[in-house]
Amino acid sequence: MSELLTLEQEFLSAIEAANDLPTLDEVRVSALGKKGKISALMQGLGKLAPEDRKTHGQAINAVKQSVAGAIEERKTRLERDALNIRLQTEREDVTLPVRGAPVNQGRIHPISQVWEEITEIFADLGFAMAEGPHIETDENNFTKLNIPAEHPARQEHDTFYFNEKEDGSRRVLRTHTSPVQIRTMEQEKPPIRIIAPGRVYRCDSDQTHTPMFHQVEGLVIDKETHMGHLKWVLEEFCKAFFEVDDVTMRFRASHFPFTEPSAEVDIGYSKKGDELLIGGDENWLEILGCGMVHPNVLTNVGLDPEVYQGFAFGMGIDRLAMLKYGMPDLRAFFAGDMRWLKHYGFSVLNTPTIAGGL
Ligand code: DAH
Repeated sequence: MSELLTLEQEFLSAIEAANDLPTLDEVRVSALGKKGKISALMQGLGKLAPEDRKTHGQAINAVKQSVAGAIEERKTRLERDALNIRLQTEREDVTLPVRGAPVNQGRIHPISQVWEEITEIFADLGFAMAEGPHIETDENNFTKLNIPAEHPARQEHDTFYFNEKEDGSRRVLRTHTSPVQIRTMEQEKPPIRIIAPGRVYRCDSDQTHTPMFHQVEGLVIDKETHMGHLKWVLEEFCKAFFEVDDVTMRFRASHFPFTEPSAEVDIGYSKKGDELLIGGDENWLEILGCGMVHPNVLTNVGLDPEVYQGFAFGMGIDRLAMLKYGMPDLRAFFAGDMRWLKHYGFSVLNTPTIAGGL
């Protein structure tokens, strides 16, 4: 019996001495495991005389309970200590600003930013957003916009053509966003007020041209619409976009097949060192084309030009971005250079809104 008590003492002090969970588990296996000492004693009971079996059994069982209890207690303690150590060493100060977080490293591309600015301004003026596919029919990109086959404007557009189909029709990569006008007028009843920002494609590449660039188209159709409305909308847009109270704009008579009369619009600016100041009439920069929708275009989409008129405009998003944020080379926009994007890009959290400022 005293042997049993010694064994118990041995285990209890081994348990107390175990300073980590693996060591403690070794003690458990050596005591209570299948080949453990206490298990062996239990198995040995069968060899005893029946009258000794009961008392011995009870004694061994008591030791077993006491060792198992001590192991359980020690285990809970070690686990709690380990947790406390982790809580001490892995402490994070959540009140620190997230300076190094990915959200502060990513940048919004200036084109995306300007695209958002433009849609925000026109949304505020009551314009809805319209879309069209990049692969367009020749009809929508040209014919219905009053640019028939053999018209010189087709050559000017440097079009990317797809192979001719069996029926002789050809698809194109849209050369401008104007086909969205056609799609909208064919699908919706006036009054119509839409803008259509998007990618366009022309086979052209130098410092101010890339084969893919961005335009935004505007279209208003109603029963009483005139050039005065067009001028007002464009002026409001420019003031909001360039964030100035006054803009000087010059409407120059021009020609587009899909508008009559047509105008090109220049915006006045001056240079102070490297800075561009919007306003004044020192220098002019062309930013858009516009005009009253040509009666032929209205007829082509089934609208009666005797009842409806409207105006349209088209501007280059990339050009507006270059002007507003002073970026000299258009090709850098699409070079995918992280250093450029870090310098000219915008914070992800800096979403343009009319209320919050552009
Ligand atoms: N589609 C013309 C272009 O790409 C731009 C344009 C000019 C659009 C006049 C218009 C407009 O809607 O009325 O050069």
